[in-house]
Amino acid sequence: MKKILITGGAGFIGSHVVRRFVKKYPEYKIFNLDALTYAGNLENLSDIKNEPNHRFVKGDITDQKFIEGLFNEYDFNGVVHLAAESHVDRSITNPMEFIMTNIVGTVNLLNAARNCWKENFEGKRFYHISTDEVYGSLGDEGFFTETTPYDPQSPYSASKASSDHLVRAYHNTYKLPVVLSNCSNNYGPNQFPEKLIPLIIHNIENNKPLPVYGKGLNIRDWLYVEDHAAAIDLIFHKGADGETYNIGGNNEWRNIDIVKKICSVMDQKLNRETGTSEKLITYVKDRAGHDMRYAINATKIKNELGWEPSLQFEEGIEKTVDWYLANKEWLQNVTSGDYQKYYEKMYRDR
Ligand code: NAD
Ligand code: DAU
Repeated sequence: MKKILITGGAGFIGSHVVRRFVKKYPEYKIFNLDALTYAGNLENLSDIKNEPNHRFVKGDITDQKFIEGLFNEYDFNGVVHLAAESHVDRSITNPMEFIMTNIVGTVNLLNAARNCWKENFEGKRFYHISTDEVYGSLGDEGFFTETTPYDPQSPYSASKASSDHLVRAYHNTYKLPVVLSNCSNNYGPNQFPEKLIPLIIHNIENNKPLPVYGKGLNIRDWLYVEDHAAAIDLIFHKGADGETYNIGGNNEWRNIDIVKKICSVMDQKLNRETGTSEKLITYVKDRAGHDMRYAINATKIKNELGWEPSLQFEEGIEKTVDWYLANKEWLQNVTSGDYQKYYEKMYRDR
């Protein structure tokens, strides 16, 4: 039985990856390592918690001794590394947590894999999940490819860029068998409502202002989370050693347009008069150093591995809204307590 370590598996994307691997590969034992920070939630995995090939391990990737011990105990065949601090706004107010988890935590995992696997890398793989934000910000034209020079602009993206460089350095220097991917904005069920799409859904439901940063003209490329999980599965199994794959939705939206789109879907779902939710839109102070546009050229993964997004945005956003409306208890649980304090502090001065 192959032993696969998935880090960050109680988070948004990680939980979809864990579910996919647990269900699709009964011959694997999935070790799901997560520190359960504010962003990690075992409710995301309630449907698979008793599957015999799924084992949850609570632990922090910044704890070097613990990580070493875990590798020595289980001698994993592969690692799918998603654990990270992931919210740009939090990285602006508190960069140090991002340095610790995203850089130091990643190096702890690299060292533990290297020490445990020694020079015998046959059948082993270390897969590092990263973001398109490492490439910086685009103007009106062009797309990020795998050879676009790194130009990270926020503490979050700089910490992810550092970890990407370190992963590649371990491949080059120690021949650690690695693969990487850089993906655009994900959306879908189980996303913590600090991120744009679930925050807007949650606020519309509660008749609260919909905060749009700056003029709302920044552009993101949105991908449904299960399509990202499918790409991760493919890259983990079929990606070439040492390579990087860009993953994107080919689905660019200005923030203001996506907010209006969600307003219209929510008006329908909540049987509100058309235009009701749009009245809640409030332009607020812009994010510091706000990247203007991200757009991914995903030709490489399409040509080499045959991956393409399966869902159109119309369908994806409906599924997402339906999920949040059907899972009010999930939303209630994650937005009680600390979320209130975060929200008040983050949006008070905007
Ligand atoms: P998330 O914030 O929802 O989840 C992160 C998970 O990591 C949480 O479960 C959290 O508890 C865990 N974690 C945080 N610090 C930890 C630590 N020190 N030790 C162990 N676990 C820890 O993040 P997400 O949106 O699911 O993103 C997952 C990965 O994908 C990240 O590496 C992120 O950079 C990358 N990514 C995200 C997006 C996106 O749009 N969300 C897009 C591209 C890439
Ligand atoms: O591109 C991939 C990245 O996408 C991931 O690496 C990050 O982990 C993920 O958080 C996401 O980063 P963004 O900063 O693009 O996502 P966010 O949902 O925070 O914001 C999306 C856009 O919406 C961005 O231009 C800022 C804007 N925004 C966001 C919030 C939370 C608002 O206008 N209002 C808001 O309240």
